[in-house]
Amino acid sequence: HEPLDALIAGLAVDVPDFPTPGVVFRDLTPVFADAAAFRRMVDGLAAPALSDPRAAAVADGRAGPGFDVVAGVEARGFLLAAAVALDAGTGVVPIRKAGKLPREAIAAGYELEYGTAALELHTDAIHPGQRVLLVDDVLATGGTLGAAISLIEQLGGVVTAVSVVIELTALGGRQRVAPHTVHALWTT
Ligand code: PRP
Ligand code: HPA
Repeated sequence: HEPLDALIAGLAVDVPDFPTPGVVFRDLTPVFADAAAFRRMVDGLAAPALSDPRAAAVADGRAGPGFDVVAGVEARGFLLAAAVALDAGTGVVPIRKAGKLPREAIAAGYELEYGTAALELHTDAIHPGQRVLLVDDVLATGGTLGAAISLIEQLGGVVTAVSVVIELTALGGRQRVAPHTVHALWTT
């Protein structure tokens, strides 16, 4: 059947001048809404964590998939993380925008185009040595995923894979997330 990147590219809609003039926003909502595309995205996001030799090494002696939990980034990452986790038989952990989590949490700041923002994670959400598959919809500047990785690692989690639906290469996010490798289903 159709390659997944072509399927995603065919369903995504370019929106000029959103959220600000000069920006072309890649809207993935039609991709999420398509049953076949959603199924294949969920499979594709989990695949790198299942094949990564690092995941297998950490998993030594453990049953189950190459990750113990899926972490998703608010808000669009939640749609994907929950589906991947349910399919794999793991739990799901939310990495939230500042001020949303009710209990003790750690925070990591990141740069926006203008100013800064922060993500937070409950301190008991990840246990030392736990293998984490981190998912989000878009890699743009990499600030969001960089902060998410920092939170998981501060709690002793092992990020076995970072998966996104779309990587916008012009924004250099891959460099910002290094040495972690980002697996993208569509690179543009
Ligand atoms: C978008 C997107 C990613 C992030 C990517 O989320 O869903 O999480 O930006 O950008 P970056 O690589 O430059 O950090 P946004 O912060 O707009 O939040 P939302 O999902 O709540 O709309
Ligand atoms: N599309 C969706 N999300 C985004 C984009 C985009 O073009 N840029 C940053 N986050």
